[in-house]
Amino acid sequence: MIDNQSIENLKSRLDIVDVVGSYLELRKNGANFKAICPFHSDSNPSLVISPSKQIYHCFSCGAGGDSIKFVMEYEKLNYPETIEKLANMYNFSLSYTDEKNKTIDRKLMENLTLFFRKKLDDNKIAKKYLIERGIGQASIEKFELGFAPSSDETLNFLRGHGYSIGEAKEFGVADISTNSDRAYCRFIERIIYPIRSRSGKFVGFGGRTITNHPAKYINSPQTRYFNKSRLLYGYFFAKDEIFKQKKIIITEGYMDTIMLHQAGFTNAVATLGTALTTEHLPLISKMEPEVILAYDGDSAGIAAALKASILLSRHSFRGGVVIFGGDLDPADMVKNGEEQKLSRLFSEAQPFVEFTIEQIAKKYNLHDGLEKQKALKEGMAYLQSLPSTLQESYRGVLSGVLNLPQNLVKVKRDVRRRESKESFIDVLELTIIKTILSKPSLIDTLLDSVDTSMFKTHSQEFALLLNNELVHPLLREIVLWDDIKTYDENELISAMIRFLFRFYSEKLQQVKSDKTLDYKQKQFRIRSYQEKLFRLKKGELVSYE
Ligand code: UTP
Ligand code: MN
Repeated sequence: MIDNQSIENLKSRLDIVDVVGSYLELRKNGANFKAICPFHSDSNPSLVISPSKQIYHCFSCGAGGDSIKFVMEYEKLNYPETIEKLANMYNFSLSYTDEKNKTIDRKLMENLTLFFRKKLDDNKIAKKYLIERGIGQASIEKFELGFAPSSDETLNFLRGHGYSIGEAKEFGVADISTNSDRAYCRFIERIIYPIRSRSGKFVGFGGRTITNHPAKYINSPQTRYFNKSRLLYGYFFAKDEIFKQKKIIITEGYMDTIMLHQAGFTNAVATLGTALTTEHLPLISKMEPEVILAYDGDSAGIAAALKASILLSRHSFRGGVVIFGGDLDPADMVKNGEEQKLSRLFSEAQPFVEFTIEQIAKKYNLHDGLEKQKALKEGMAYLQSLPSTLQESYRGVLSGVLNLPQNLVKVKRDVRRRESKESFIDVLELTIIKTILSKPSLIDTLLDSVDTSMFKTHSQEFALLLNNELVHPLLREIVLWDDIKTYDENELISAMIRFLFRFYSEKLQQVKSDKTLDYKQKQFRIRSYQEKLFRLKKGELVSYE
């Protein structure tokens, strides 16, 4: 392999004007250069080359990237070939490494998982809890379920195995209390669901209280190894079946996933207490399976299903929604021996677009003409956001649900993207994204505090940033956007604090008006948001969890 450092050294010598100029005729254009774009049939020069940003971008076909990308695309080479080609052009000698990769010591997570496993075997109450929920011994072993004892016991175990609190903190397992400076374990007296990455590494834990703690579940915080918005619980155990059946069942909970596997639905996974977002899509879309959303019938579950259904239909996923009613979730149904019924429900999932249109209609009183008009408007806006083939096929569904003639359902195409792009801009979000783009290492300071789902307008761009897809057209446009500033590190931190403040203030308002929460839970969340806001006011970057 080519040594990374040596690739970095080569990169620092490359100049985009030089590189592109060795293939194309460039014309000066203000601070930039222009050329006829070689990636589509271009008549007037639409390729812009920016020496200050070191990128090229075609305003007509969207092609673009850095020097390396240009050579890759122009010469149709793969990455190492391109690096070698450029090294030759620049008379640069590359150094090579042998294949041994530096891997970080993840043994901490493995050892801790084993420790929790053992603690479950030792704890009668925890064991009994699982049995009462219907979980069999085979499932306990397959999913490596465990029990986290007292904080001190876990910390002692870690210390005894030579791990520092710093290391435990890095994996999100321990933390230091803000007011007493004492270390504590994040998971205390909880059933532990170890979370594996898609390749099977232990990256985080979910913990369910069995002592009625107001936080029913606690999950590992975002760490270098664990991004809960990108992972799906159980994916590692489900992936073979997903590939075989070309079908994936997405549930809301750990328990649902485990119980579905136990009942033979071994293609089930769960989101980790977060909504389904664009960040999950790369994982889900492998092998292009049909997606079944299996969500609870409470208002939170329906709202989550609607959001996910909109997302998936916009990205042309096949599949549909199953809403579980009557206080029963998939886990309960397996416990009650209702596998047959489950199987039927999954096969009768309501297609995403239909489900979405029905849910939109339900928000309005369709006996009232004005309300109906609003429903039509919202329905059409949704249809317009879909790929055009879907738009046509579902016009009839919208007119049917609203009981209106089909010619009233108009969908206009093309203009849509541009319009929506210009009207949905959030400068604070863009500034944060652009600043990180200008200096990607800055993300380390923020990683613990942010999550893609916090971005209201530009979550897709932030997800691309986290996925390191720095040359994606959406990110390139931000880089070339001169109205958006970039900040230095201190300014970034204060922008982030403003951003978090805005986020948690809204959360606080939402919780206050949430009628589905019981009193204890509500108090607990209100207090936790208030504490975050208080710490933000003091200028502290609070962590996301
Ligand atoms: P539910 O409240 O529906 O829990 O939350 P559940 O899966 O039915 O769990 P059991 O059956 O009571 O044990 C669904 C998911 O939302 C996340 C968890 O990932 C949970 O599996 N969650 C829920 C949290 O992250 N924190 C919470 O306080 C509650
Ligand atoms: Mn449940």
